[in-house]
Amino acid sequence: PTPAAWAAVDSYLAETLVGHDSDLERALAEQNAAGLPPIEVAPLNGKFLHLLARISGARRVLEIGTLGAYSTIWMARGLPADGRVVTIEAEGRNAAIARANLERAGVGDKVEILVGRGADVLPTLEGGEPFDLVFIDADKESNTIYLDWAARLGHPGTVVVVDNIGRGGQVAHADTGSSQVDGTRAGLQMLGADPRFDATALQTLDAKGWDGVAVAIVV
Ligand code: DHB
Ligand code: MG
Repeated sequence: PTPAAWAAVDSYLAETLVGHDSDLERALAEQNAAGLPPIEVAPLNGKFLHLLARISGARRVLEIGTLGAYSTIWMARGLPADGRVVTIEAEGRNAAIARANLERAGVGDKVEILVGRGADVLPTLEGGEPFDLVFIDADKESNTIYLDWAARLGHPGTVVVVDNIGRGGQVAHADTGSSQVDGTRAGLQMLGADPRFDATALQTLDAKGWDGVAVAIVV
């Protein structure tokens, strides 16, 4: 299929199943106006995360990579009244935009943003209440570190989602010279081999191009 053909299907599905939401669209407008990269999840994928939260009955969500909080809003909306999203963002400037977006969307009281590198922040969560859903969407070079923490901070049954596992088809190649692809491949290798996980992955073809998500359960 051509990019135009899959974009048409993406628009059709998004119009049919997701529709429009002023809080989410405002969050994107603010993120774009602030010059953040347009690398948030596509609307259908945001709703996928929202539904996973509901399907799994999640009360505590861990997100690694907040950006402007578009996916954060989707997941926060899938939680019960006492639910919480803890989301980690390396860039203070992004975190400020995210915080404003969360407040405007009415989910500010459900979300805690921790500013710092994932590898530094994640150890501080040890000993807290475990997470029921973990969404990994940050620097791809660190995916194995993030997966290790997902297992350690989760419990049997915790759902783990890793974004961007297709990368325009590059993921099938060991010799791209891209540290992001290498990190993505290492994460997938870990999901396949580490006995703490059982996993699959789905390719996606949407407004964001050709990519995909891995979905795992902590065994
Ligand atoms: C990139 C990162 C993402 O999380 C994404 O969804 C798309 C692109 C990137 O770093 O290029
Ligand atoms: Mg992503």
